[in-house]
This record gives sequence, C-alpha cells and structure tokens, in this order.
Amino acid sequence: MQEQDHTESVTLEGLGDWVRSHCCGTLRREHAGQTLTLMGWVDGRRDHGGLVFVDLRDRTGVVQVVFDPARGPQAFRIAEMLRNESVVAVRGVLTERTPDTVNLNIATGEVELVAREARVLNRSRPLPFALDGAQEVAEATRLKYRYLDLRRPEVQRRFIFRHRLAKAVRDYLDSEGFIELETPFLTRSTPEGARDYLVPSRVNPGKFYALPQSPQLFKQLFMVSGFDRYFQIVRCFRDEDLRADRQPEFTQIDLEMSFARPEDVMRVTEGILRVACSLAGVEFPETVRRLTYDEAIARYGIDRPDLRFGLELSDVSAAVRTTEFKVFRAALDAGGMVKVLRLPQGERLSRRELDALPEVVAPFGAKGVAWVRVQSDGWQSPIAKFLSAPEKAAIEQACGAQIGDLLLFVADSPKVVNESLAHLRLHLAHQLELIPSNRWEFVWITDFPLVEWDDEEKRYVAVHHPFTSPREEDWDRLDADPAGVKALAYDIVLNGTELGGGSIRIHRPDIQEKVFRLLGIGEEEARQKFGFLLDALGYGAPPHGGIALGFDRLVMLLTGAQSLRDVIAFPKTQKAVCPLTDAPSEVDAKQLRELGIKLAT
Ligand code: AMO
Ligand code: AMP
Repeated sequence: MQEQDHTESVTLEGLGDWVRSHCCGTLRREHAGQTLTLMGWVDGRRDHGGLVFVDLRDRTGVVQVVFDPARGPQAFRIAEMLRNESVVAVRGVLTERTPDTVNLNIATGEVELVAREARVLNRSRPLPFALDGAQEVAEATRLKYRYLDLRRPEVQRRFIFRHRLAKAVRDYLDSEGFIELETPFLTRSTPEGARDYLVPSRVNPGKFYALPQSPQLFKQLFMVSGFDRYFQIVRCFRDEDLRADRQPEFTQIDLEMSFARPEDVMRVTEGILRVACSLAGVEFPETVRRLTYDEAIARYGIDRPDLRFGLELSDVSAAVRTTEFKVFRAALDAGGMVKVLRLPQGERLSRRELDALPEVVAPFGAKGVAWVRVQSDGWQSPIAKFLSAPEKAAIEQACGAQIGDLLLFVADSPKVVNESLAHLRLHLAHQLELIPSNRWEFVWITDFPLVEWDDEEKRYVAVHHPFTSPREEDWDRLDADPAGVKALAYDIVLNGTELGGGSIRIHRPDIQEKVFRLLGIGEEEARQKFGFLLDALGYGAPPHGGIALGFDRLVMLLTGAQSLRDVIAFPKTQKAVCPLTDAPSEVDAKQLRELGIKLAT
C-alpha cells in the first residue's frame, strides 16, 4: 500500500544524545516538575485546534503528552504530523493536570508531559488491524502480524506474568536445592506417546536426530550422576494432533529428585503451584485433594476430572444385572457396564435438549443416552416400561436419586461409557452454566495402573511411560497379573486440565528389563533403543522420581487465557503452521541433496 499521508514527509531523526529518562506508565504526581525524556509509540492523537494531545505508550503504560505551540513550537510542528504507532522521543516537563482534566481511568491520569522538543524515530504504516479492537480480528491475521498483536497491553501482561512465573519457579526450586541443568535437543527419541520431530544429520547420511518429547532419560541419568535434584524449564517437541491445550513445541517445568517417594515429589510440586498461585492472586488450598485413578474413573469417567461442579457418575450395572431391557442386557452380556449421570433439578434440560444428547456422546462411541425423570409419581422415561420395580429401586439407590433428578444412562464397554459420560458431564456443566468462575480445584490423581491393554497393537502399553516404577509390593505380580499392577505415578489436575504428570522411576536394570518385556519390547530392541539407560541403571542408580508440569498450561489457566496460543509468543496454529514465518516450508533441492534426502512426493 502506498501511503499518501504526510507521515512520509516527516524527517526521521536518530536518538542522537537523547537518553530515555523514564518509562511512560510509571509517571505519577511525585514526578511533577521534572524534565523528562520519554520514548514510545503514538497510541492515539487528538487535535484540539491549537493543541495536540498524544497518548504515548511503552511497555509500562500510557501517558498523555501535550503539544502546545506556545510552550514547545518545535515539538508542536512534529506533533501535527504524527500518526498512530509512529515511534517518537519527547522531551518536556511533567506537569500536574488541573482537577477537571484528571483521568482516573489510567494510572498516569493525574499528570501530563508538556512537550518542548520531539524527534520522530520511525514511522508506521497503517496497521492491518486496530490494536484496541484486536479481539474481534481473525486469529490467523493476528498471528501473521503477531509482533503487532504482542503490542497490546493485555497480551503483554500475560507474557510479563509468564516471565515472573519462570523466575519465581527458578527461585523456589533453587531454594529447595534443585540445580538447573540443560539437556540436548538433538537426541534420540524418548517415547512419551507422541510422534517425534526428526532432524536429518548431514554428516551421518541416512541418520536422524529426534527432538526430545521430554528430557525424561537425561534427567534420570543426572540422578545416576549424583546431581540429586535437577530441574529445567525446557522446551519439548511432540508431533501430535493439536488442540487448544496442545502445541507441537511447549515448555515444561521438569524436575527429578533422588531417594524420593511420591510424597516428596508432590510436596515440591505443591510448592511450585503455591508460588504460582500467589503470583497470580489465586487461592491455593492448604492441602490438595487426592483421588485414586480408580475413584476418578468411577466418579467422573476420566482421570482429569473438573471438580468445580458435581454431576457425579454411578455404576448401576449390579442393579440391572438380570434385566430384560435389551440395551442394558446387550452391553452387560458383552462384558460392558451401565453407568448413570445424575442431574439434580433435571427439569433444567428440556425434551428437545434431551433428544440432542446422543449426538453429544456419539463421537465417543455411545449408541444412545437413555433418560429418566424421577418424579413423585414414578419414572417418566422411554425406558420405564422395560425395567422392573425392583430394578428401578436398585438404580435409584445406587445413584442416590432424588425426586426431580434427571438420570442419564449409557450402556457399553467401560471405555465408551466412561468417555461418553465424562464428556456429557462437561457438556452439561457448560450448557447449564454450572461452572463457577474464580474457582480453582486442584487434585492429585494417584495409583494409576502401570500398563493397559492396547487392542490395536495387541500388547500392553505403559500408562505413563516405560520408565515408571510399579509399586514395590507389586514387583512380584508383574508376570502373573500385569493389568492389576499399580504404578507409583501421579498427575496433578487443575479445573479439568492435566497440569503435570510424573512418577517414581525404575532404578534397577532387572526390573526395567522386565517391564520392557511386559511392554513387548524385545531384548534386542531394548538394547538398541535404551541400552544406555540400562547400562546407567547398572552403575548404582539411586531410587529416584520426578514430575513435569506444563508451563504453558499453567500460565494459560492462571491468566484466564482460552488457548495455549495466547501464552506462547509465536505459537503454531491447529495445523501446526506458523502464519508469521510460514513454517514449515519447502527447502532447497541443494539442502536436501546435502542431507541425502529425496522426497517421494
Ligand atoms: P507428560 O507427557 O505427562 O510427562 O508431560 C508433562 C506435562 O506437559 C504438558 N504437555 C503439553 N503441553 C502443551 N502441549 C503439549 N503438546 C503437551 N504435552 C504435554 C502437560 C503434561 O502434563 N517425562 C514425563 C514427566 C515425568 O515423568 O517426569 C512427561 O513428559 O501439562
Ligand atoms: P432403542 O430401544 O434402541 O430405541 O433405545 C431405547 C433408549 O435407550 C433410547 O432412549 C436410546 O437413546 C437409549 N439407548 C440406546 N443405546 C443405548 C446405550 N448403549 N446406552 C444407553 N442408552 C441407550
């Protein structure tokens, strides 16, 4: 775009010998009378015939600058030509405003700078979007011009908080005896359940590094080295399908400690969260609640329950064990279950809304949602006629039904039932606005199973990762009853988001080999992929354990941001693209040749 406005005709100047004396947002009445030099961006400009007012903005805030031909003729001539977002330096005297012009909406509203001299340091083209209306602008546009989006004070506040939080976490962990140590980015893949980003090695044709999904194995090696307490605020890379709370590169507060029990890791983690909450002005509980994995699944259908509202689930399989109702019968006969979500004051959901529920759970595999309105004269329900009086009574007892409740049933395999009802629970909480704002529900989930059966791969897979230790009392059950073995693993959940996860690790090579075998990782594969770990465990590895907290997620939740993209300076879109740089991009044929890579498409 060719600009016609007269900013083009402004003569740009250098800083010369001018030195910035103060930041705009810090100025108060006590500075009145001083001669200051301010530098920043023109946030707005008002021409009051004879007087020009400019809001000058820097990171700290905005201050009003008055350009008056009588008091600063040189500055006034420049002010007439200023446009929004020009970069200027202004020198003048800070003056108290008269009582009728005080603006209590801004922190500097009791003062203004009377400009004597001004220099235009740079001009700005018209912005692609107005900064104060940016909320309405398509995210793709804001991300393409992210450096402008980042000019917005409310966006900057989140990043300043992020900085303060990182510093506070470092200080806290330092005070607890943790040492920040760096681990490589060009490494071998560490399985954390996602795909790796691969980096070809030019000097080793045909070979690839993997960007770390986490520093998991290196931090364990630090324990073997005797560093005792390690931490790192570290970038991790995972090639996974993206959502609002997932980015392909993200930051962890990663830590590991020797001779630690779960309690010790949990105490340090709570210390971090306490520091974080106090920085954000959020209340942190005296003691964090705990739920076992089994209890979380039983009551909420999910291992990261949002505890800001009720709507608990109940298993009513036993109550309908001998039922003739074909929907329940079929599920039970197939080894499945029947669970119910109890919604008090069920009349809040209309018949039309009830009819829409099957669509809500269909993506999770549920074939329907049966409903019951519990009324003083019995059940109002399309399935009432299929259930006997004793079955109805047993169901009511199992879920504690009260008159006025709406009961919502799903019958299927445990996986489908739990996932469907967990989603339905959240869906209803949003729809009926049951989630109180300003409530912070932290909960530890403990006693995870060590492994779960993967139907597709036809083998057991680690629920956390393959380095997680079974409970000591379960060491002998690994062969006979793997699915019944519990892990020394724990997740910390905040308002339904998994903030972090960790575990006590296996520190003995014999047990690690056993677990690899259980996971279908053969001896050769284990040696090839994890030989260095097995070797290291063989040289006196101490018992150890740790955790990693999602730093971006923590910042997101504590600043009330809707997406990780709001708290990562230069994030990727849902398609893993950076609209600013257009990464990922094609590369030169020459680059590929050097790497010995030929594209198949
Ligand atoms: P885990 O895989 O559970 O554990 O990761 C720890 C935490 O990192 C955050 N996180 C993410 N944040 C944003 N985008 C992503 N794609 C993403 N993936 C994970 C989550 C998660 O809880 N090595 C183990 C930790 C350990 O055992 O000590 C690990 O990485 O908040
Ligand atoms: P049908 O006899 O298939 O019409 O189902 C009777 C009622 O049960 C309907 O309200 C369905 O939405 C519901 N339903 C169907 N399949 C299931 C299921 N797997 N779990 C719970 N309810 C179901």
